[in-house]
Amino acid sequence: MSINYSEKIPNNVDLASNKSLQRALERWQPAYLDWWGEMGPDKSQTLDVYLRTAVSVDPKGWAHYDYVKMPDYRWGIFLAPAQNDRKVNFGAHKGAPAWQDVPGEYRSTLRRIIVTQGDTEPASVEQQRHLGQTCPSLYDLRNLFQVNVEEGRHLWAMVYLLHAHFGRDGREEGEALLERRSGDSDNPRILTAFNEKTPDWLSFFMFTFLTDRDGKYQLAALAESAFDPLSRTCRFMLTEEAHHLFVGETGIGRIIQRTCEVMNEHKTDDPAKLRGLGVIDLPTLQKYLNFHYSVTSDLYGSEVSSNAASFYTEGLKGRYDETKIDDDHQLDSVEYEVPDVAADRIVSKHVPALTALNERLRDDWVADVQKGIDRWNRIPEKAGIAFRFSLPHKGFHRRIGLFTGLHLSPEGKIISEADWTHRHAGWLPTDEDRAFVHSLMGRVTEPGKFANWIAPPHQGINKQPVDFEYVRFG
Ligand SMILES: [Fe+2]
Ligand SMILES: [Fe+2]
Repeated sequence: MSINYSEKIPNNVDLASNKSLQRALERWQPAYLDWWGEMGPDKSQTLDVYLRTAVSVDPKGWAHYDYVKMPDYRWGIFLAPAQNDRKVNFGAHKGAPAWQDVPGEYRSTLRRIIVTQGDTEPASVEQQRHLGQTCPSLYDLRNLFQVNVEEGRHLWAMVYLLHAHFGRDGREEGEALLERRSGDSDNPRILTAFNEKTPDWLSFFMFTFLTDRDGKYQLAALAESAFDPLSRTCRFMLTEEAHHLFVGETGIGRIIQRTCEVMNEHKTDDPAKLRGLGVIDLPTLQKYLNFHYSVTSDLYGSEVSSNAASFYTEGLKGRYDETKIDDDHQLDSVEYEVPDVAADRIVSKHVPALTALNERLRDDWVADVQKGIDRWNRIPEKAGIAFRFSLPHKGFHRRIGLFTGLHLSPEGKIISEADWTHRHAGWLPTDEDRAFVHSLMGRVTEPGKFANWIAPPHQGINKQPVDFEYVRFG
């Protein structure tokens, strides 16, 4: 089904046939546009940006590329096609027909799950709103804006579910999603990682590599939900999410590439010299990786969680690739290994798999992150440089779960408070590191030109050349 763009709200959910829902969303739309104007990309309202817009859910051609002013972007509501006779695939209701309506007993839990996911979408737009002022190229500026408009659409996706299935409380939640603000002390976003600053492009690329990847795993787990509209919504969101991960992974890859070139050109690995040459030394990149990895890891919650167990048993949130896993999908007598603290060191223990579902999803994410790191490591390897990136221990710099209150080295050794104070500047970005990275952030807007600290991409967007005018300044 393709989308009728003459409608006020493009959709494939036959909005026209449900007048009260349509009116509710049409009332929310101006509030959304006000929010975009206030909290969306800074000074971007008049720019013509070469963006993709979702125009159908056909895997072969769901996107259309053209210049658009972002306030005119067509944020639409798209659900992946319904699967015939879809069943509940796990938990206590396994085998029953998937739910087209919210069961009364799970109403408040499902609403909370949807609101928590929905809240991350505008939060990241708010976190990234100043980055356009310091873009390293038009190509990167366009990618930033693409991510921003799609996070806006993901908010639409969640607000649609709230309006369509949760009545008046759903509409109130929809309003509250436009009222919270990332980093605000009175009315912050729900999750800590979404209240951190994204002050520079290195942080942005780490965020899209790590935190958007958390989004991928959360959406994938919700795509398994017995609540079919949520499943179908998340499945389509995942098609857009892939580009966000691409932006992060290739962004960092291009920074590594550029640094390696300068290291070889000047035959040096001295961070001070490399900084003098205007590139980001590899140990500093490792510190940013450590920071974003640990902050994002917290988003999965506690290693052992009775909430996670209930969500699963109730059929609300599955495992990653639930239907591809070969087991009973009820986890009655299965165990899973989680970390544990024994006096002065980290050990592991077996717990009922049902209670370890947060940890399992985190492990799936970690394995996926590691693959990206392996691809990054081919860059210094090819350049004949010995440096390799690695992930810190899971318990490093954690604020939620088992490791809260402990100090761990990146290798996973429990250390004293004094030792941490003495050594953490070597493991996490310092104010000085951040000031240096900040000092590199200029603004490059000539087509085909790139800031000195980042290599050009191998290819452009949608088969356009790298020096294409991805953003036009009116
Ligand atoms: Fe998103
Ligand atoms: Fe995303």
